[in-house]
Order: sequence, then C-alpha cells, then structure tokens
Amino acid sequence: MTTVRKVAVLVGSLRKESFSLKTAKAVIGLAPPELAMEIVDFADVPLFNQDWEAAMPPAAAAFKARIAAAEAVLFVTPEYNRSVPGALKNAIDVASRPYGQSAWSGKPGGVISVSPGAISGFGANHHLRQSMVFLDVPMLQQPEAYIGNAHKLFDANGAIASDDTRQFLQNFVQAYARWVERNLAR
Ligand code: FNR
Repeated sequence: MTTVRKVAVLVGSLRKESFSLKTAKAVIGLAPPELAMEIVDFADVPLFNQDWEAAMPPAAAAFKARIAAAEAVLFVTPEYNRSVPGALKNAIDVASRPYGQSAWSGKPGGVISVSPGAISGFGANHHLRQSMVFLDVPMLQQPEAYIGNAHKLFDANGAIASDDTRQFLQNFVQAYARWVERNLAR
C-alpha cells in the first residue's frame, strides 16, 4: 500500500494573481498519489521578534504548528531583489525558533523559483537553499527548477498553457516524491 506523505507547500508571493501561486497549484495537480500537498498560507504571520521566544502570537504559533505537522516542505517562490521575498523569509524564521525547537529540522525539501525574467529566480532559489542548510532541510538537488518567462506560461484560468512546462513540473514533482521517500526512510 502507498504511504501518503503530508507536504506543506509555501508560496513566496502574497499576490492574488501570483505566477508562483499558479505554479504551486499546477504542481499540486500534477503530484503523484503518495503526496498530499497543501498550501500553508503565512500572510497573517507577524514579523518575527525574538522577544516572543517564551510565547509566540497565535498566528505565528499556528503557522509553526502546521509546518511541524508536515512531513516534507516544498517552496515555490519568486525572487525579490535577487533574494527570498521578505514574507517568506519571515515565515522561515518564525518556524525555526526558539533555538533547538525548529519545525523544519530533517524535513525533506524542494524549491521551485518562478519569475517573468530570464534568470528565473536563481538568486532566491539559492539564498533559500543557504537557509535550508542551516535548518537541516535536505533539499532536492536535481532536477533544479527555475521557471522563467512565467508571464507567458499560464492561460486566462491560471492553468499551465505550455506542454513543456507541464511535463517539466510533472518530472520535477515525481523526483521530489522519490526524494521525500528516500529521506524519510533514513
Ligand atoms: C521583483 N521582481 C524580480 N524579478 C526577478 O526575476 N528578480 C528580482 O530580483 C526581482 N525583484 C523584485 C523585487 C520586488 C520588490 C518585486 C515586487 C518584484 C519581479 C517579480 O519577479 C515579479 O513581480 C513576479 O511576478 C513576482 O512573483 P509572483 O507574485 O508573480 O509570484
């Protein structure tokens, strides 16, 4: 019998018509049955303050609990100024504290960067990987996923309009599923 793994999907953009959100939804639709993927929203998570360490505000604690309950994580993010958008970095920081009680540790991870530009969010993708090294999140290395020209990839309903991109994301999510299983088995 297939074991279904619970995956928290974090979308780095808060924008309603976000290409990253459309990409995340497409990936969820293409995922194999062994992945139960759910977008975990962090729009209402307040800015991290180390003074909270005794007790987090409820929205921060609720977000951290959702990460803690997931078995794996997938980031789908744009690049802001060649790095990770602040809201996503804040969410990562919130769920990482207090020190020694990170919700991220050991969860297999992956990242898809998304941009209308040709560099395809490379800077955000790799800055995110840098934080994940410290947070002990083993990140899928291959295939890398840099989705460029994002403004040309979706139809009016937000569905993927490019067969190549659909096929690429399908291959990616299948490799990600194998990565999750292999790393959870360790
Ligand atoms: C951007 N954008 C951008 N794009 C990029 O490829 N590299 C970058 O460094 C930046 N920097 C940047 C900073 C800020 C503050 C904004 C608002 C935007 C453009 C960005 O890729 C574009 O707005 C995307 O559409 C944002 O992703 P979503 O919201 O569509 O997922």
